[in-house]
Amino acid sequence: MTSSRVHSRTQIAVVGAGPAGLMLSHLLARAGIDSVAVDLRSRREIEETHRAGILEQDSVDLLVGTGVSDRVHRDGYRHDGIELAFGGGGHRIDFQGLVGASTRLYPQTDVFTDLADARRRDGGDVRFGVSDVSVGDRVSDAPVLRFTDADGIGHEIRADFLVGADGSRSLCRREIPEGARTQYFREYPFAWFGILVEAPPSAPELVYNHSPRGFALISQRTGSLQRMYFQCDPAEDVGDWSDDRIWHELQSRVGANGHVLREGPITSRTVLPFRSFVQEPMHHGRLVLAGDAAHTVPPTGAKGLNLALADVRVLAEELERAVARGDTAPLAAYSERALGRVWKAQHFSYWMTTMLHTLPGATPFDLRRQEGELAAVTGSTAGSAYLAEAYTGWPGGR
Ligand code: DHB
Repeated sequence: MTSSRVHSRTQIAVVGAGPAGLMLSHLLARAGIDSVAVDLRSRREIEETHRAGILEQDSVDLLVGTGVSDRVHRDGYRHDGIELAFGGGGHRIDFQGLVGASTRLYPQTDVFTDLADARRRDGGDVRFGVSDVSVGDRVSDAPVLRFTDADGIGHEIRADFLVGADGSRSLCRREIPEGARTQYFREYPFAWFGILVEAPPSAPELVYNHSPRGFALISQRTGSLQRMYFQCDPAEDVGDWSDDRIWHELQSRVGANGHVLREGPITSRTVLPFRSFVQEPMHHGRLVLAGDAAHTVPPTGAKGLNLALADVRVLAEELERAVARGDTAPLAAYSERALGRVWKAQHFSYWMTTMLHTLPGATPFDLRRQEGELAAVTGSTAGSAYLAEAYTGWPGGR
């Protein structure tokens, strides 16, 4: 088999051509560094996977400022705040007033499309729909990426450095030996039931609802398509949920806080797992991890994509140094710089999750205590400003 492979060379071989892998190869190309990015999924499969929809200000600036696309400014909706709804009413967190920042509602699938188009426009080497991916010689001076392309041709690409941007089921992560890394986990006893619905928006901004029946989130996509989520059992089967049953559950949760949803046909339903995970350090030899491959956050607060983009912004800088100097010290610097933000985001996602969701077996004390916490946050400028700063993203790449 090996003899029939096509042999080639690049500077950076990237496993994973989702937003993290594509943004990295885009930033590297701007610095004059060659890369090849491969993904097991087809472009269409990635485009059809619905993910979160909120971009921090720095993520928007990265897309626009580096010339990926300015579509996020044209098609994305600027949000200057969110509502926290609990105890029968709503409380707005005014991002602009508190920290002078905003977020953009712009789905991850659009970010991916913009990046894939930009790589194609710029002549980037991206291979979708590959199989049999493996990486080797990760500690040597010339690590290797092997795969079979979509036409069945075997490839072996030697590179200066390998990047694992291959998502939460990362193959690259497992290449770092047990003795050389620490893994941190937290499971949650609930999940999100996510739907897409053809209807006008039910609220102008996102509404995070705490209710005695559990959490519900009102989000949006466009003028005629909306995204909503409600807390459910991780083992929930979407097949057991008729439209009527979904609407009853959602309406009763948001109705507890005075909201009424505009209903319509439900076109997509998925159960999203909740877990917190970090593997550190995010490098070993000439292999480095970025995005979900190194860390997963629960979805509350929409930090996953933003963290991945923050990782690769730092990683591109450090890889530029590593390529110029030919050593691996900048990879350690990357890991240290990135992990500072990763742990802040881990805390924020965990905090938003535990403040807003109902644990199985929760007592009336637990619910009232959460309402006390929400009242303390929304009733205090300091508390609201912390939430606003974390939600819109710690500025300056920190
Ligand atoms: C969305 C997802 C999130 O996790 C969140 O906190 C807010 C919005 C969304 O998909 O719209």
